[in-house]
Amino acid sequence: MANQNDKFKKVISHAKEYGYIFQSSEIYDGLSAVYDYGQNGVELKNNIRDYWWKAMVQMHDNIVGLDAAIFMHPTTWKASGHVDAFNDPLIDNKDSKKRYRADVLVEDYVGKLDAKIEKEVKKAAKRFGDAFDKEQYLATNPRVVQYKEKGDAILKRMGKSLENEDLADVKALIEELEIACPLSGSRNWTDVKQFNLMFGTKLGASADSAMDLYLRPETAQGIFVNFLNVQKTGRMKIPFGIAQTGKAFRNEIVARQFIFRMREFEQMEMQFFIKPGSQKKWYDYWKEHRLKWHLSLGMGEDNYRFHDHEKLAHYADAAADIEFRFPFGFKELEGIHSRTDFDLSQHEKYSSKKLQYFDHEENKSYVPYVLETSIGLDRMFLSVFSNSLVDETLEDGSSRVVLRLPAVLAPYKAAVLPLVKKDGLPEIARKIVEDLKWDFNVMYDEKDAVGRRYRRQDAAGTPYCITVDHDTLEDNTVTIRHRDTMEQQRVKITELKDIIKKEVDVKSWLMRM
Ligand code: GAP
Repeated sequence: MANQNDKFKKVISHAKEYGYIFQSSEIYDGLSAVYDYGQNGVELKNNIRDYWWKAMVQMHDNIVGLDAAIFMHPTTWKASGHVDAFNDPLIDNKDSKKRYRADVLVEDYVGKLDAKIEKEVKKAAKRFGDAFDKEQYLATNPRVVQYKEKGDAILKRMGKSLENEDLADVKALIEELEIACPLSGSRNWTDVKQFNLMFGTKLGASADSAMDLYLRPETAQGIFVNFLNVQKTGRMKIPFGIAQTGKAFRNEIVARQFIFRMREFEQMEMQFFIKPGSQKKWYDYWKEHRLKWHLSLGMGEDNYRFHDHEKLAHYADAAADIEFRFPFGFKELEGIHSRTDFDLSQHEKYSSKKLQYFDHEENKSYVPYVLETSIGLDRMFLSVFSNSLVDETLEDGSSRVVLRLPAVLAPYKAAVLPLVKKDGLPEIARKIVEDLKWDFNVMYDEKDAVGRRYRRQDAAGTPYCITVDHDTLEDNTVTIRHRDTMEQQRVKITELKDIIKKEVDVKSWLMRM
């Protein structure tokens, strides 16, 4: 645990030191759970968004994009169920006066059981060596089975209690499991109460005529209310999807863990409109397809797993998370939800406008069902950033910090370094930057000894360093150094573009899907 905390602290401080993420309004002591992206962060964030957009919109001829406004008519949120049901169950500790999400306290308890299982697995893998069969061990080891059954039973009970709005039972569960306040260690809890997560605001100049609005808590509803606009003007045939990226806002109570849970964040969502009855097929398809997208980034198959929901949201008939191994354990990264016809039917009801599709093959109209994929851009950022940050001991015993970002996502693809600041080398280096910048984000760096510059670029995540030296004056060649292998190659200046392209080209990364 101490190790996990140390690693996470390193991630946060590295993100600041290298211009990735700053606390919002830091000079005023910051705003809790709100963050700003710095000069490198904005590039990484843009590249992740672009990688998602290309995979979802550009690569699917039946998926189109949308950019709906953040402000929406307030009835939207009545229809969607957010006014009545977008609540978190909260519990206060009477001694520390700290407020917690009751379901998170219970999930953290189950997370500890999962951690115990992982520990047992690691021990057994060491003991049995190559003969170790993880699946069999998980299914048969009595202690592991006991932990698993206990965790499953706890989550099942909580799911049922939350579904039935039985908050007294959620409290009883916390008491039975003897869960203590992480801050004070006390078990002196209040009752569990529901708390709505939407931020309210007002539209209009005068107090009496102003209209109460909400900041959208998800981008999905902008897609639903535009379903017919897009379908008709784009002449879209079912099955088809609408994708959108944009800000969402939630008044999160347990807003910790850096950019994992923020009050202002960005989502990348896609609603896929399908024929009623085909939802199982598309649910399986999108689960697999989205996992493949994650795996294409090469961050390790073992770092992902599915978590099928016991407790379903008010709009879903099936739901699963793709979980990622963050520095604080496996947590939700993306959700795949089979939303039925809930949203469109609700908007039909509240707007009194038909939101139906005429299916020429079936010769009838119906309200389409919807399969949703929903991922937090900031959470994706954290998964990429934390997984890439490595403290490496080199063969000569020295160490370096390297940010092994997937090259396709790296903010800068190359840094061009004149060996010295004279003899015409800076001029050649600048000319290389001028040529390459039409194709890639590249930077010029002439400060400090070249070894230090290499380390700085390694830590910033730049895949290539290109060094211009005195030989360049003679033969137009440069040294190109690879961030991960640290290998250096002598190449012609004219070859640089192709070498970099091979490594960072979106096509070659997405082709791995
Ligand atoms: N439209 C469905 C929806 O919004 P969700 O599970 O509430 O579903 C989807 O959110 C994704 O949005 C999550 O998997 C997560 O990646 C991201 N997300 C949700 N709340 C967040 C928060 N407070 N901060 C950062 N990301 C968040």
